Amino acid sequence: MTRDELRRSLEFYQDLGIRTLYRRETRVAPAPVARPAKEEPPPTMIELPPLTPLDDTMEAIRADIGDCKRCRLCEGRNKIVFGSGNERAPLVFVGEGPGADEDASGLPFVGRAGQLLTQMIEGTAAKEGIGIKRPDVYICNVVKCRPPENRTPQPDEMEVCGQFLFRQLQAIKPKAICALGSTAAKAVLGTKDGVTKLRGNWWKWRDIPVMVTYHPSYLLRPYNQNAKREAWEDLKKVLHFVYD
Ligand code: URA
Repeated sequence: MTRDELRRSLEFYQDLGIRTLYRRETRVAPAPVARPAKEEPPPTMIELPPLTPLDDTMEAIRADIGDCKRCRLCEGRNKIVFGSGNERAPLVFVGEGPGADEDASGLPFVGRAGQLLTQMIEGTAAKEGIGIKRPDVYICNVVKCRPPENRTPQPDEMEVCGQFLFRQLQAIKPKAICALGSTAAKAVLGTKDGVTKLRGNWWKWRDIPVMVTYHPSYLLRPYNQNAKREAWEDLKKVLHFVYD
């Protein structure tokens, strides 16, 4: 790999928000001749993974994830939860990571939070006269394997798995993205700001508008009824932007 190719590769991964690259180091075998004592040690060759092809597909991403062992989350998972819905959807919802029901079924948002999300999407759409159902949108998560005890994914886990989320978003190229909760907002927008600060306004991932709203699990808590009303407002805004 030339210096130029290496620079372009590194810029590409930086663009994707990846700051850690797992590199395979290959020492160049020393020539079978005696070296003068002062000679520099042999150079270290860095082998980067191939650049994401422009015509990346969901099949290719799924195949690259394979039986992933790239981070510790593989240790406790039953199923990798890749995503579900319309792979050509104009709207993608991004959650945090699979829970117990998702880990068992291999599908995102099928537990209690998922039922609320379905209700939110379909209820708001019906009320607003927008003819869509849950299978018309695409739903996925920042991390594809269930974190133990449903803990928040750690930064290195988000970084490793985030590359697949970004490839999914890039392959789908939706008209808008809806980030559910602060982990999704952090992964997609690279911000430390919380949902309360971010929600209700449009942000961008590359050129794609992003709306941040509350995670459905948060809305399930009885003392968050005000947030529920705000989440409905956010969703209304997203649905009209995408489908009007
Ligand atoms: N919570 C998430 O963030 N994702 C799921 O798939 C389910 C619950």
